[in-house]
Amino acid sequence: MLVDSFGRVATDLRVSLTDRCNLRCVYCMPPEGLPWLPKPELLTDDEVIRLVSLGVRRLGIAEVRFTGGEPLLRRGLPGLVAATSALSPRPEISLTTNGIGLERLAAPLAEAGLDRVNVSLDTLDRDVFVRLAHRDRLADVLAGLAAAAAAGLTPVKVNAVLMRGINDHEAVPLLRFCLEHGYDLRFIEQMPLDAQHGWRREDMVTADEIHRVLAGSFTLTPDDPAERGSAPAELFLVDGGPARVGVIGSVTRPFCGSCDRVRLTADGQVRNCLFATEESDLRGAMRAGVDDDELAARWIAAVGRKRAGHGIDDPAFLQPDRPMSAIGG
Ligand code: 5AD
Ligand code: SF4
Repeated sequence: MLVDSFGRVATDLRVSLTDRCNLRCVYCMPPEGLPWLPKPELLTDDEVIRLVSLGVRRLGIAEVRFTGGEPLLRRGLPGLVAATSALSPRPEISLTTNGIGLERLAAPLAEAGLDRVNVSLDTLDRDVFVRLAHRDRLADVLAGLAAAAAAGLTPVKVNAVLMRGINDHEAVPLLRFCLEHGYDLRFIEQMPLDAQHGWRREDMVTADEIHRVLAGSFTLTPDDPAERGSAPAELFLVDGGPARVGVIGSVTRPFCGSCDRVRLTADGQVRNCLFATEESDLRGAMRAGVDDDELAARWIAAVGRKRAGHGIDDPAFLQPDRPMSAIGG
């Protein structure tokens, strides 16, 4: 098993399949994009499958989430999902996506074995979308969401990041929209993970603030905390339920103590935390011909070194070199 020195067990594997993206969300990357990883440095589909399979069959991984960048840009995605769903024990399989292309891919991915999706949606206003993501693609995202629900990739979860002065007036409309469509909405506090290092604590819309704004329009009652488990969201029943809304206080209410995640970057590095400053190179090891025992040993050692928390509040905090797009959410 993947156990760290604090006794936490990693069972949730996040696999970034590409660092590329067709959006440029301000909390993630600059408008001009980033120097993408050269293709030869990316794991091949076979290498991804080898590592996922090792994680599931030998290391206790029970959930596999494909992320990016934008994972729908990876041509082999349906095949990767199918190979993952053929593993035994079969893991839960989910996808974090910006929704562009999901209109076309939702059905084939569901067919391949995908269970659920998380779609990023920060605004319902076309002009705000362009300001926030630097591309005019809101309609594609909304079509993608509808296709996901129609394909049974449920519960369809929506992730929203509020940015002060850009979309912080949209908390209530976003929740109304999600309630209407049966999507499960979660607000995520903005974290210092953007490539341009533009994050400022003073600008962050906090979990408290989001809760206060929503409570002005809805009756929120805390959902049973026992159901939260290792999930980062604090969940509230909306107007008595059954609909719920989540607020993820990544910065102000860290949940590192119950973290069960481990990450694999698109170029084959194990990261034991979003904010890790150290990685373990499984791609190099695989390409040097090591066997599964050795790969597993390196992976176990990498998780063993996981730190207690992200330390954003520590004066010595250093933002990781890799931005969100190269780690995966
Ligand atoms: N802070 C919080 N959430 C972020 N995401 C991307 N960058 C950040 C950030 N700096 C979210 C995206 C997506 C998921 C992968 O993480 O909105 O939903
Ligand atoms: Fe793309 Fe996601 Fe980054 Fe937005 S947050 S630019 S959708 S990778």
